Parts: sequence; structure tokens; C-alpha cells
Amino acid sequence: MTDLKKSIHGEWSSRFAFILAATGSAVGLGNIWKFPYITGENGGGAFVLVYLLCVLLIGIPIMIAETMLGRRSRLNPINTMIVLTEEAEADKNWHYLGWRGVIAGFFILSYYSVVAGWASAYVLKAFTGSFFGADPTAIKSLFDSFVASPVQLIFWHSVFMAATMWIVSRGVNSGLEQAVRFLMPSLFILMMLLVAYAMTTDSYERGVSFMFALDFSKLTANGVLTAMGHAFFTLSLGMGAIMIYGSYLPKNVSISQTVFLIAGTDTAVALLAGIAIFPIVFESGLEPAAGPGLIFQTLPVAFGNMTGGWFFGVLFFVLLVFAALSSSISLIEPAVAWMVENKDMSRKEASIWSCLVTWLLGFGTIFSFNIWSDFKIFDRTIFQLLDYLTANLMLPIGGFCIAVFAGWIMKQHHTEHELAMPNAFSYQVWQFLICYVSPAAVFLVFLHVVGVL
Ligand code: PHE
Repeated sequence: MTDLKKSIHGEWSSRFAFILAATGSAVGLGNIWKFPYITGENGGGAFVLVYLLCVLLIGIPIMIAETMLGRRSRLNPINTMIVLTEEAEADKNWHYLGWRGVIAGFFILSYYSVVAGWASAYVLKAFTGSFFGADPTAIKSLFDSFVASPVQLIFWHSVFMAATMWIVSRGVNSGLEQAVRFLMPSLFILMMLLVAYAMTTDSYERGVSFMFALDFSKLTANGVLTAMGHAFFTLSLGMGAIMIYGSYLPKNVSISQTVFLIAGTDTAVALLAGIAIFPIVFESGLEPAAGPGLIFQTLPVAFGNMTGGWFFGVLFFVLLVFAALSSSISLIEPAVAWMVENKDMSRKEASIWSCLVTWLLGFGTIFSFNIWSDFKIFDRTIFQLLDYLTANLMLPIGGFCIAVFAGWIMKQHHTEHELAMPNAFSYQVWQFLICYVSPAAVFLVFLHVVGVL
């Protein structure tokens, strides 16, 4: 493979542009919506610790591997796996890895978009002053009556999917780079502000100790799986999003340093979200285990009562929608790039088709919150099933295969050359993690869940 190979979809203008885009993909609803509610459901501190360990020992090495695979081939994940399998003279079954990722992307976006639709609706609610002076009970019933309405959810899901389609059809590296450049820092500052507000409440200490005090008796086997799955979900790993962004990365950029920066930012945003939200949860007398509605039932209480709350409320939900958008486009980009490369479609046609499929799939999640809330498969609503299937199974399995492929199947001189780490020691550490630690950790968690361990 020559170093001159370039992606036909274009290239990031710089290392910084890649950092922005990959951070845009990583930081999203996963950090601000999902992390707090799963932490709440799984008892707090011990769960957070397992999640942090998973990011460090599994997430970061696999993120380096996934970026490397994309950059080496400069193609969409499906073709990446075809080309690299050939280069490594490996078994053709490795091709399925690319396909599995694209399918996972569709499934995830189908529910991601519904929740991003909630956030969009909350921009309007914040704007019209619905939170003003409201007490926790009023805020909770506002949320409950909102999700009980399929028509409203369909409307906002459609708005969000249309926006995704519009951006993806224009190509990821034009508007996106510009948008993420000021959105990410703004989101960060706003999260700090919310933490500052949380500090003024009487429940600040209780909230923080919920997040960090270790009580392993509260952690179940499924909680460990959820923590690991979330490490993949939050870093956008295991389905090709980071791989496709890696394929647009210029050759001379150091992958490992870049990945540390992205994973660090992502983790910081999640922790800030937790520190901001749990004090408000306790202050409002809410349950940490309230489920997917947690941030929508807590943050409006804060906005409704703080000075400048109208402004910060609108700003927060606007930023949340943008953070979700910069993630959603990375969920669909592998499919779109594949259609453009292999099916001879224009970007526009490819975006329309893939977004249409996702939009339709999203109805399953919408109805899980209202008319089909009693319809359960394996004791889960469609939303819960999709979430479990993708975050807890498909992404870790994808990540496991990426680790094995990068560590055991690819030729060592290829990975060494592609990563071009600053010194031999760093490369050896990565190699040890990717060959042994990351795959073994994923495997052990699975064994633990099925009860073998
Ligand atoms: N990382 C995103 C988030 O935390 C979600 C995502 C998952 C994006 C997988 C791309 C791929 O919100």
C-alpha cells in the first residue's frame, strides 16, 4: 500500500480538524444523557470506576487500532476490511467486520435520533419559558406527557434526521469542522457552569459521593457489561465511525497522541455531566435510577430556578443538539461512504437512502415510550433491546475483533509503520494491550455475564 493513497471523499485539513471531528463524534448524548442515567441505574461509584478502567485499558488501545485501520486503507470500513484482509493474507471472514459495523450504526442512530429529538424539543420548551419557576414534580410530568405522545416524538425525530441528512449530504469535512470548532469549547464551559450551580445546592456532597464512593455490592455482572459497553459507545468505537474518520486523516499525524486527547476530553465531559446532575437529582428528591429521562427531569429544574436560567437553558439544549448532530453524522457516514464508493451513488442519494431507513427504524424506539411500552422481547422494550444489542454486544464484539485483527492478523511491520509512535517502548505497550489486555478484558466480561466467572 502506498503512502500517497488518499480518500476519494477528501481529507481533513489538519490534525486539528480530525481532533475536532473525532471529538465531535465521541462527545454526544452518550456523555450527557446516557452516562448519568446508567450510572444512576447501576449504583454510582463502582460503576464509574469500571467504566474509567475500560476506557483506559480497552477503549484507548482499540481507538488507536481503529483509527489506524482506516488510515491505512483510506476506504470505508467495509472496503477497509476487504483490502486489509488481502494485505495480511488473512481469512475472508474478516470482511464481515465491516458489515457488522455499518448495521450497528443504523441501529444506534435509530434510537439516538429519537433522544436527540427530545433535546431539540427541549430547546423550544426552554425558549418558551416552560421551566420557569417549575418544581420537580411539574418538570417530571412535563417530560412524561411529552414522551407519551407519539406524534410529538415522530415530529422531533424527523426534524433531527432531516438535519443529519442535510449535513451528511454536504460532506463531513466542510461545515462540520467549522461548527465543532466553537461548539465543543462552549459545551465544555456550560458544563462547568452547571457544576458551579450544583455546588451551590445542599446536595452537592451527596451527589459527588454517589458518583465516586466505591460500593461494589451495588454492581451486578450486567452493570460491568454496561460499563464496558459504554466505554465503546462513548468513544464511538467498534462500528467504523472512528475508522472512517481515520481514513480521512493525513499521513503525517501521530495517531496515538491524538487519541489520548480525544478520549481525555470525552471522559472529562461525561464526569462533568455526572457531577452537575446528581446533586440536582438528590436536591429535587428524584431517584438516580429514574432511567433515560433523568437529565430531562433534572436539569430543567436547575434552569427554572437559577439566575439567567432562561438563557442557559436554551443554550444548553442547543449545544446538546449540536453535540448529538456531530455524533449522528459519524454513525451514518460509514454506510454513506460505502454507497458512494461501491454503488456509484452521489453523496446526496446515499444520504437520503440511509437516513430514510434509519428514520423508519426509529419508530420502534418512539413507540417503546408510549403505545408499545408493554411490548417486550426478552423482557425489554424495543428501545432497551436496541440499546443492549448495540452498546453491550455489537460494539464490544466489534472492538474485540478490531483488537485481534490489529494485534494478531496484520503484519507487525505494517502496524509499526502506520502508527509511527515516538519510541519503540510506546509501540510495545500498545501492542501488549491490543494483543492481550483489551481482547482478554472483553472476553472476561462476557464470561462474567453468562455466569461462567
Ligand atoms: N459517541 C457518541 C456519544 O457518546 C455515540 C456514538 C456511538 C457515535 C458510536 C458514533 C458511534 O454520544
